[in-house]
Amino acid sequence: AAVRVGVDVGGTKVLAGVVDDEGRVLRTARRSTPGRLATPEATEDALVEAVLDAADGAPLLAVGVAAAGFVDAAGERVAFAPHLPWRGEPVRDRLAERWRAPVTLDNDANAAAWAEYTLGAARGADTAVVVTLGTGIGGGLVVGGRLHRGRGGMAGEFGHGQLVPDGRPCECGRRGCWEQYCSGNALLREARAGVGTSAGPLAARCDGDPAALTGVMVTEAAAEGDEVALHAFEVVGGWLGVGVANLVATLDPDVVVVGGGLVAAGELLLAPGRAALRRALVAAAHREVPDLTPAAFGPEAGVVGAALLTRG
Ligand code: BGC
Ligand code: NA
Ligand code: ZN
Repeated sequence: AAVRVGVDVGGTKVLAGVVDDEGRVLRTARRSTPGRLATPEATEDALVEAVLDAADGAPLLAVGVAAAGFVDAAGERVAFAPHLPWRGEPVRDRLAERWRAPVTLDNDANAAAWAEYTLGAARGADTAVVVTLGTGIGGGLVVGGRLHRGRGGMAGEFGHGQLVPDGRPCECGRRGCWEQYCSGNALLREARAGVGTSAGPLAARCDGDPAALTGVMVTEAAAEGDEVALHAFEVVGGWLGVGVANLVATLDPDVVVVGGGLVAAGELLLAPGRAALRRALVAAAHREVPDLTPAAFGPEAGVVGAALLTRG
């Protein structure tokens, strides 16, 4: 039978999955993302292959592409993507031609937000804020049952709000963006800065070589009580709370869902995030402070949402 596939194109990896009508992921395939200095063609090759692998020979009913970038209002082009080489490429039609199937294109975090709103942790919310933490920070906003897209389709780029004037340089070309302080990359930066001089589970995992560290190592070491890894989560979780406080002050949402690869760390990240949210949020003592709720679909929310969005 023909299958519906969702594919999430992040800054680090491409994850494709066959998704059924209940939002269950039946089969997945992955590739690493060729990177922002690769060609658009190399990036497209990686996702074409991942989708065909996931489909495993079944005909494609439709493919939903969730891309880590600024998708135009028509859903045809990726106008800009800090972590990917697309700059205005007509991605939707190019891929439709290669797969010979209808393609829906949306921002990765919008897709995740849609999955969480329709079937996951944000079900029933009037206003839902979804933040995905991966290579960068993705944002999705559902208001009154609809994804809020803004004028040009580019709403929800929370990760590039400036939190630190003259702060760390960002792949978007500016400085001090939230995602430079709160993301998988930010976690690695913190862990690398501390691991060299330490002797604990984290240093053991990377043989004392900061460059060899991965996000998974930091999460595992933190779970074993490694002080450098725990500190990295405290710092990144702290920035999570600060950024979310700004969103809550602006939007007063029913729910704040946190997804993306980093949410696999669970309370290691969310506990310091909640504490910082309470500290940073205006009138916290006089209002209901929303919880930070882990994405029901975890790191697969983008894949599920991309597939669901093909149903129109
Ligand atoms: C991009 C977003 C994307 C997010 C998560 C950000 O750097 O600007 O478009 O949703 O990363 O992948
Ligand atoms: Na978005
Ligand atoms: Zn930025």
